[in-house]
Amino acid sequence: GAPVKYNISKLEPGQMVTVEWRGKPVYVVRRTQETLDNLAKVAPLLRDPESTESNQPAYVNPENRAIKPQTLVLVGLCTHLGCAPMFRPEVGAADLGGSEWMGGFFCPCHGSKYDMAGRVYKGVPAPTNLDVPPYSYESDDVIVIG
Ligand code: FES
Repeated sequence: GAPVKYNISKLEPGQMVTVEWRGKPVYVVRRTQETLDNLAKVAPLLRDPESTESNQPAYVNPENRAIKPQTLVLVGLCTHLGCAPMFRPEVGAADLGGSEWMGGFFCPCHGSKYDMAGRVYKGVPAPTNLDVPPYSYESDDVIVIG
């Protein structure tokens, strides 16, 4: 499949879009500074916070899982059985753990939870973090997936 371009200047802080790449949904999220600051707080609740057993290119940071921290790019397929996790950015969501929930992704199929870097929580069916696809920056505003 051909690489896919997306202009991230259209994304508002806190917003997510889905871009199709090779028939898969790719989630692109513009993270706020508050979201980035919260990544360290949830680390103790995660199965693989440093992504040692999870799939991402070697050039992404293993903790925030991005080339540039503000922009997260993930394959939007749950690593359990491949459902599409829902974007649930709202901190403190009562149905997702209340005060412990710092925003992230929730898979409606069997309840797997991921943080705002796509890192999987402990105690859910999904075995690894959401995959990060290969991507690069063609310019400050344009990412190329694939
Ligand atoms: Fe996501 Fe099973 S497919 S929890």
